[in-house]
Amino acid sequence: MLGHLRFALEGIRPEVQQYFVERSVDGRPFDRDTRSIVYERAKGTDAEEPFGTELDLYESGREFLVPSMAPHAVRSDPPRVRIGGPDCSQPYDMALLNVSAMSFGSLSANAVLALNTGAALGGFTHDTGEGGLSEYHLRPGGDLVWEIGTGYFGCRTKDGDFDEVQFAEKAAHPQVKCVSLKLSQGAKPGIGGVLPGAKVNAEIAEVRGVPQGQTVISPPYHRVFSTPRELVRFIARMRELAGGKPTGFKLCVGSRRQFLAVCKAMLEEDITPDFIIVDGAEGGTGAAPLEFADTIGMPLTEGLMTVHNALLGTGLRHRIRIGASGKVATGSDLVKRLLQGADYTNSARAMMFAIGCIQAQRCHTNTCPTGVTTQDPRRARALDVGDKSQRVQRFQEATVKSALQIMAAMGVDEPSQLRPHMLQRRLDPQTIRSYAELYPQLAPGQLINDAPEAWAQDWHAAHPDHFTA
Ligand SMILES: Cc1cc2nc3c(=O)[nH]c(=O)nc-3n(C[C@H](O)[C@H](O)[C@H](O)COP(=O)(O)O)c2cc1C
Repeated sequence: MLGHLRFALEGIRPEVQQYFVERSVDGRPFDRDTRSIVYERAKGTDAEEPFGTELDLYESGREFLVPSMAPHAVRSDPPRVRIGGPDCSQPYDMALLNVSAMSFGSLSANAVLALNTGAALGGFTHDTGEGGLSEYHLRPGGDLVWEIGTGYFGCRTKDGDFDEVQFAEKAAHPQVKCVSLKLSQGAKPGIGGVLPGAKVNAEIAEVRGVPQGQTVISPPYHRVFSTPRELVRFIARMRELAGGKPTGFKLCVGSRRQFLAVCKAMLEEDITPDFIIVDGAEGGTGAAPLEFADTIGMPLTEGLMTVHNALLGTGLRHRIRIGASGKVATGSDLVKRLLQGADYTNSARAMMFAIGCIQAQRCHTNTCPTGVTTQDPRRARALDVGDKSQRVQRFQEATVKSALQIMAAMGVDEPSQLRPHMLQRRLDPQTIRSYAELYPQLAPGQLINDAPEAWAQDWHAAHPDHFTA
């Protein structure tokens, strides 16, 4: 009811709307200040604040970015990141902030339409999520990353195997700019996607190739590979089937040794993905058991530093771009992730806020009050695609602009100039350490030449033919 009431009030006064948003979602995963920033940027009413911060800057764990004594002018052209290693024949220039994977099924058709239209308006990408490639992804014309997960939805045989012919056919679509293999996601590493039966209507059943009305549980593991070497060979096969388009995988990091095993397989096979998306344990989902969301997987900071350093240490970093997702909602979030080793970022829930999500947390019940995560046509009508797609575009543009402003204040023009010493963390009232001190960076090729003590055990134990944890 609050969700619907909010829409009625939105036209009257933003403050009234905000009051209801805060009342209805207090204490939920995103704090109210972050949500307010996203709502304001999406609406184009982003304003400056008087007086100064209300935060306790002396709190342990608080982080700050390092401004320069010689700030630069803010660049007006947002930089893009070229994705495409040596085996990619159709490289793609990715924006710094994109729509993270959320499937049609977890999202309503109107939500998918609004996100893709926003991506088309703003020139960034929209990841389909693992629920298949639907007409709602394709109709507005925005660039797509087509993701497949363990269910191979949209390219699966009747008994649930990967279907090469269907994959090649859909990957050839000109709007599909990259293809991505989902290994795991931060909110539920180690278990497959769950789409409750209430949401599996005829259309979703058709897009996914599954029976209508039955809960769809993706298997926890992939059928197409069971060793690191088979994984990298499969990536090469996907790229071949996709006509040389950038091909990568997404994971929430768990065991560093297993990731190093994949790096060894890349070296031995001389195959690299064009990108790796690191999802933090703080990531969101349409449906997952709470214990998985709370207790399994590496948070984004450690996940990113692990992948970035492993690729540096194995001399592979220059061939692979790193994407990052996990509560990226503001310009400073974006800068922080670039500085920790990412080349670009993706955002899921902040994009949901931009299309009207109030964090009611009913995604799995089919009763989302704002029409974002429901398959009930009456409820989905609440989402006005025209208005919300502009909000998506404005949110992305304003967030990247804010990131560029922050970078300029730090005396940096290019994301590649951001370095770990530019982020500092307070450990206790007397001690502040930079990320360079907290997470020493490996030199290119260092693991191969002379693995430092902190990495040696995992590096030597990692085997390209075993996923030993
Ligand atoms: C409703 C919803 C559906 C999602 N579906 C997928 C999916 O199909 N595939 C995937 O890789 N990640 C999925 N995710 C995870 C997001 O893509 C993202 O990695 C994660 O939420 C972290 O980003 P955020 O903190 O900006 O939300 C989903 C997240 C949400 C909230």
